[in-house]
Amino acid sequence: MLQLVYISTVVAAVDTAAILDVSRANNTRDRITGLLFCDGRRFLQALEGDTAMVERSYARIARDPRHRALVVLSRREVAAREFGGWAMAERVPGADGAAFTRRVEELVAAASPAVRATFDSFARLQRAA
Ligand SMILES: Cc1cc2nc3c(=O)[nH]c(=O)nc-3n(C[C@H](O)[C@H](O)[C@H](O)COP(=O)(O)O)c2cc1C
Repeated sequence: MLQLVYISTVVAAVDTAAILDVSRANNTRDRITGLLFCDGRRFLQALEGDTAMVERSYARIARDPRHRALVVLSRREVAAREFGGWAMAERVPGADGAAFTRRVEELVAAASPAVRATFDSFARLQRAA
């Protein structure tokens, strides 16, 4: 199965609840799971599932005008789901924010320097939030 992690920039005032409603319905149908993290300025999302399903979902998400400047941090085949079984869990800065950030740091550890730099700036935004 494919695991894909990307970050993007929020466009204007975005209704995260509405995004999550549609995401959970579609992802349950498509057997896709993952996490969506939003600090109001940036999204960070992990998608896991059947490779073709994840690619199709990501193609839809990438065309969505509610965000822009998508950067794929990690795209790899995994034997089992690593982000749990949620249809799309939501993470907001708070108690488990640090653990979530660490987990994503592990994911991007093997990525290119450019991708790591992008993630580092995201992590700094999280700490500042
Ligand atoms: C940050 C962000 C994350 C999204 N995540 C998902 C997702 O996990 N699954 C999904 O189906 N749609 C997701 N969407 C919504 C898609 O872009 C698109 O609007 C939706 O899949 C269309 O579904 P529909 O054809 O059933 O109306 C996301 C949108 C944004 C902006």
